[in-house]
Amino acid sequence: MQICPTKQDVRIFVAATRRGGMTVGLVPTMGYLHEGHLSLVREAARHSDKVIVSIFVNPTQFGANEDLASYPRDPDRDLALLEETNVAAVFMPSVEEMYGDGGDTYVEVPSLSGILQGALRPDHFRGVSTVVTKLFNIVQPDLAVFGEKDYQQLALIRQMVRDLDMSLKIIGHPTVREADGLAMSSRNVRLTAADRAQAIALSRALSAAEDCAKTAPMISDLDNLVRGQLAEASNGKVESVDFRDALTLAPLEGRLVRPAVVLLAVRFGKVLLIDQRVIAPD
Ligand code: PAJ
Repeated sequence: MQICPTKQDVRIFVAATRRGGMTVGLVPTMGYLHEGHLSLVREAARHSDKVIVSIFVNPTQFGANEDLASYPRDPDRDLALLEETNVAAVFMPSVEEMYGDGGDTYVEVPSLSGILQGALRPDHFRGVSTVVTKLFNIVQPDLAVFGEKDYQQLALIRQMVRDLDMSLKIIGHPTVREADGLAMSSRNVRLTAADRAQAIALSRALSAAEDCAKTAPMISDLDNLVRGQLAEASNGKVESVDFRDALTLAPLEGRLVRPAVVLLAVRFGKVLLIDQRVIAPD
């Protein structure tokens, strides 16, 4: 496994791979890896000859009051975990290497970056689409794998790739969960024991919505059901519950007649947990 601290190192690695007639898959991450990330790596390996993982806590996608400084980091542990998978190279640049003295160009997908999580976190998705574009330009992969856990992020990247004719394939991968249903997240380690116990309310609420959806209920009834389930987590502050068209993320009203995605954001102390599930009538 080759460690690439600079853009140049990655470019040389990818050029050699291409000369050998092999394809390249990219898995972008911010590190503090867990089984969810590793499952994206395995998915990438199923579709490409050489997998590159990037580890970069991207400052431009964190707001001024957000958790950039306290975002969990453990590069040695990350590298040890990746050694056990079939990763060919790890791109782990410094902020200086990635952004030089700043940069003045952004990639934005306004219809998707300002809604839902984007309405709560201004500039977050602009930071994501810009850094992902930079990663695509540096690595020039044949494909990249992203988790459905960050459903809006995945939708935005798909739209960006279509709009800007980026020549790679985007693969979405289902959310990997703890045994009790909590979606794996690098942020979970920052939950207190009491909050961790209550955090299963998110996946429980999603399962309740999934069951109820089968009978084509009113969206307002689904909303009440989900909020009722989330209320079980007395330490959690519900930031948002949204029902959106599963493909376009357009708002839905009335009765559930086609696949919808339920998007949850619940704050436990300083930790914002998100989860999602696609639901549909029978
Ligand atoms: P990060 O939160 O580290 O997530 C990296 C990738 O892992 C994302 O595609 C995310 O959706 C996926 N992922 C996280 N938890 C998962 C889980 N439980 N199951 C399946 N996949 C999961 O998302 C980012 O980093 C950044 O925004 C990034 C795209 C790297 C740009 O900076």
